[in-house]
Amino acid sequence: MVKVAVLPGDGIGPEIIESSMLVVNKVKEVFEIDFSFQKGLFGGSAYDATGTPFPTDTKKLVEESDAVLLGAVGGPKWDNLERGLRPESALLELRKRLGLYCNLRPVKYYNALENKVVWKPGYLEGVDVVVFRELTGGAYFGTKGRTEQEAYDTISYSREEVYRLAERGFELAQKRKKILHSIDKANVLETSRLWREVVNEINQKYPEVKVEHLYVDNAALQLVINPRQFDVIVTENMFGDILSDQAASIAGSLGMLPSASLGGKVNLYEPAHGSAPDIAGQNKANPIATILSVALMLRFTCQHEEAAQAVEVAVDQVLAQGYATIDIAGPGKKVVGTKEMAELIANIIK
Ligand code: IPM
Ligand code: MN
Repeated sequence: MVKVAVLPGDGIGPEIIESSMLVVNKVKEVFEIDFSFQKGLFGGSAYDATGTPFPTDTKKLVEESDAVLLGAVGGPKWDNLERGLRPESALLELRKRLGLYCNLRPVKYYNALENKVVWKPGYLEGVDVVVFRELTGGAYFGTKGRTEQEAYDTISYSREEVYRLAERGFELAQKRKKILHSIDKANVLETSRLWREVVNEINQKYPEVKVEHLYVDNAALQLVINPRQFDVIVTENMFGDILSDQAASIAGSLGMLPSASLGGKVNLYEPAHGSAPDIAGQNKANPIATILSVALMLRFTCQHEEAAQAVEVAVDQVLAQGYATIDIAGPGKKVVGTKEMAELIANIIK
């Protein structure tokens, strides 16, 4: 039995989670996977209900589960709370508490979304990039401080923190095209010099993998002018946050970008986008990032590659049939809502 803690969160979180459950239930039936689901309060909605964004009951629930499926957290309503009470703090605490240092964000180009990407038709054919973002270190977790006149965030990385993340990138690069882009700012940052040193050290263990070191500013440019050069990317927490949103332009929308946060006993699956409060509750959100996160859960937690691929293929097919949520709509598309998109995907899984 695979026990999944389901944390819908805020904004569009509840509707994308509810819709993705249609897919999960179909997979459960078709592949006879024994799942159990339990919902927990998390984020701003948890703060409203209990006074804390990460209630004790939810901590207990996630620790007793095999995986966590999360919607999204945050919204203007909670933006002025003190740091520790903000929904985003709960998310960082969840990642840290479960030891999820490795955030995997696969980005791929969909022919059906040719009109949504900024590149010329055909240019992105076959592009498929995996970003490994370090998730429990760097500026997000360093010492922070604030006075009236000054504020600071500290970036610090240990050799071990860099090693364990970068090695996952090498492992995958070895199985794929044997190209690894490591992104840093080693011309300025000491942490980046350590990053580069450790990456080069691991390279000796994987000599067939060709490593390209790029400065983050240049990497941002390269993702625009020559995205086809990338296959596997490894980078630190904040650079990975920024570049993975940027890379989502390859998939046509941030609403297409799933993520798996790995490295713990209990791993976390969540779309890479936010809670989109402006469209919350309107059945407009794209559930695909969440549905593809479910596929990652099937792959990594359930180790059921066949089921994972069935979900991914179903997404491809529904897009190829011309269905789209508003974020990926365009000429000739059949625009559907959140729930309808999930139903269409669930219906083709077999
Ligand atoms: C993400 C999000 C989060 C992050 C926020 C909500 C804290 O942007 O998962 O990319 O920065 O990690
Ligand atoms: Mn982000």
